[in-house]
Amino acid sequence: MIDYLGAYADKTVLVSGGAGAIGSNLTRGLAQAGARVIVLDDLSSSERWNVPSLPGVLFVEGDVLDEVLLKRVFLERPAIVYHLAAFFANQNSVDHPERDLLVNGMGTLRLLEYSVLSGVQRFVYASSGCSIYGSAAPLPLREEYMSLHLSSPYQITKMLGELYCNFFYHHYGLAVVKPRFFNSYGPGEAPGQYRNVIPNFIYWAMKGLPLPITGTGEETRDFTYVGDIVDGLLRAGVMESAVGQEFNLASGVETTILSLAQMINAAAGNAAGIRFVPRRKWDTKPRLRASVERAQELIGYCPSTPFTEGLQYTIGWFREHWDRIEPAARFAPGVSSAVRQMPAAAT
Ligand SMILES: NC(=O)c1ccc[n+]([C@@H]2O[C@H](COP(=O)([O-])OP(=O)(O)OC[C@H]3O[C@@H](n4cnc5c(N)ncnc54)[C@H](O)[C@@H]3O)[C@@H](O)[C@H]2O)c1
Repeated sequence: MIDYLGAYADKTVLVSGGAGAIGSNLTRGLAQAGARVIVLDDLSSSERWNVPSLPGVLFVEGDVLDEVLLKRVFLERPAIVYHLAAFFANQNSVDHPERDLLVNGMGTLRLLEYSVLSGVQRFVYASSGCSIYGSAAPLPLREEYMSLHLSSPYQITKMLGELYCNFFYHHYGLAVVKPRFFNSYGPGEAPGQYRNVIPNFIYWAMKGLPLPITGTGEETRDFTYVGDIVDGLLRAGVMESAVGQEFNLASGVETTILSLAQMINAAAGNAAGIRFVPRRKWDTKPRLRASVERAQELIGYCPSTPFTEGLQYTIGWFREHWDRIEPAARFAPGVSSAVRQMPAAAT
């Protein structure tokens, strides 16, 4: 295996969505490896303070659809592009399908076009496990299986991004990589109406509210610590064996939503318990567990953070940054009514 971290020294890297949950952690990893990082983010679902203040990190606020801005950031001649900016996620896309198509479809196409025009050496696209395999796939989910019966506009446009990447790979020879993330969690992801189940559960538990479970609670997800995803991304950005490939970045372990809620209530000392609310119509996957064999073979990916440990780091981050997280949480007016009406997002 090559020294993949050493390969970033003095490289210019563009991270779209670099203020977000995964992008902020990736930006830190890149800067620590010696890269010069340009973060392009419109802060539509993140906060400026989440961008790491490190030497070598340049923050550019704006939309991936804004061609003037794209010209400006590509003039910096990035060698590697990580395209993580996206309209996130399932429920948001059901509520706003046209914006979802614009950002995830057109936004990805523009980034690919500018990457070809400016001679980018590697384009890493943030794909999504929940957007490829549908609800009838056998477990563990393997890369060769796919479904055209997807259950939200977000899933359609995230798959579209992979298809565009394939076109740019075959037609223009752009060195694309398409890691498929599964249920990322960890420091850097603030709670909100359209956010994932873990930050929302922690937020509500810290506020002493009951945790809303959408469905029976026996549903499972393959929760993957963000540090493991970032390690997979850093490998994907420089290893030759990744080029043209799609592979899962997951933990390979299933956790039920009920046990997740119990763990978080116990860790936060929340006596308010749980409450059951109806399953969301687009939430058609009772279980998620991915195979990580292909990522292991191609790039030596090996998720190493046990779930209980990752959860502790995440709760620690909430406690440390509560003064910023609490006022910034984006929910429909009235958190307690939001808890009643808005089921926790579990993408
Ligand atoms: N979090 C997960 O579990 C998960 C799972 C599968 C795939 N993904 C993909 O990984 C990527 C990162 O996910 P995340 O959890 O960090 O999400 P996130 O919402 O925290 O990060 C996305 C970032 O993109 C920014 N953004 C949105 N629209 C933009 C636009 N038009 N122009 C510029 N910036 C824009 C947001 O402000 C945000 O900072 C996304 O592409 C997502 O689809 C995430």
